[in-house]
Amino acid sequence: DEPLLLDRFGRVARDLRISITEKCSLRCTYCMPAEGLPAIAPEKLLSAAEIARVVGIAVHRLGIQDVRFTGGEPLVRRDLVDIVARCSAAAPGVSMAMTTNAIGLDRRARSLAEAGLTRVNVSLDTVDRRHFETLTRRDRLPAVMAGIDGALAEGLSPVKINAVLMPETLHGATDLLAWCLDRGVRLRFIEQMPLDADHEWDRSSMVDAETLLDVLGRRFDLTEVGRDDPSAPAEEWEVDGGPSTVGIIASVTRSFCSDCDRTRLTAEGTVRSCLFSDTETDIRGALRGGATDEEIADLWRGAMWNKWAGHGIDAEGFEPPARSMGAIGG
Ligand code: GTP
Ligand code: 5AD
Ligand code: SF4
Repeated sequence: DEPLLLDRFGRVARDLRISITEKCSLRCTYCMPAEGLPAIAPEKLLSAAEIARVVGIAVHRLGIQDVRFTGGEPLVRRDLVDIVARCSAAAPGVSMAMTTNAIGLDRRARSLAEAGLTRVNVSLDTVDRRHFETLTRRDRLPAVMAGIDGALAEGLSPVKINAVLMPETLHGATDLLAWCLDRGVRLRFIEQMPLDADHEWDRSSMVDAETLLDVLGRRFDLTEVGRDDPSAPAEEWEVDGGPSTVGIIASVTRSFCSDCDRTRLTAEGTVRSCLFSDTETDIRGALRGGATDEEIADLWRGAMWNKWAGHGIDAEGFEPPARSMGAIGG
């Protein structure tokens, strides 16, 4: 029997996203409060060995095919290289990616690649230094750019860039695209979701994919080419006749929930079936309480079975989840 992690709408989860910390070196306004998130007590955080055990269970008993480390910011965890190495050993041949702000990645790219990290997606919304400082509340643009270069130098590719769309980032979108084309990294623009800590997101002021395409279309010639695979969040457009592309992740106006293949583990060891879930299923207790791998797999199956059909952002009475993006990991 092929192991499958199913929900009641017939979707199969193949993609595991693991948040390994809620700490971050930046404070992007759409993701974190200015003061950062409250620290998780050290004993509540899953250890490298526990994360690796979970990855083994997910891959061997539940059919997970891709693993991604997220945060907060994964690079702030001192034992990140150890986590990656143990996970690669627990699931040989499975792709191990990371979503990161790239600060400090130049120094650690080589050891991460050696430990088994396959590729990275870097969050970068603007190539204007002052503007970057306003959005992230930190003056760290040069460090991010150095990190991207480090990832490219160590072959952590393809390197993809994630840019969240905001009214403030829209006018710089063409410059960001030109910069990415020049560096040979794949840019994706993202519609902002209501996952900011301060609950200031507002549907009527959200910058959508259509508006972005208008702005980009004034400087670039774009041809729609579709998704890399059916469950990929980004739709791709060829730029100026190719071969480079730009992606758009239109989570709100062109939601892809019906093809969702994701399952999530939080830094404290709970399974989250959807970004917008209102419940989580604890597996840390089971991991530490002597449960067998099969018992943990069963808890996980139960958690995913109840996954919602979709985020429901446009539905009547929609409420954002209690966790902000920084505490879920995107
Ligand atoms: P690739 O495999 O490289 O395409 O990764 P990815 O796009 O799945 O992962 P990444 O962490 O780079 O996420 C990119 C963006 O997609 C995030 O910034 C989110 O805004 C959005 N996103 C990620 N996961 C989900 C999800 O489960 N649901 C929705 N609606 N959006 C998501
Ligand atoms: N809406 C959409 N994407 C977001 N990200 C962070 N907050 C939001 C939000 N409110 C993105 C980051 C990062 C990824 C993990 O999630 O840019 O690339
Ligand atoms: Fe999947 Fe939930 Fe994201 Fe929709 S919002 S794509 S269902 S995780």
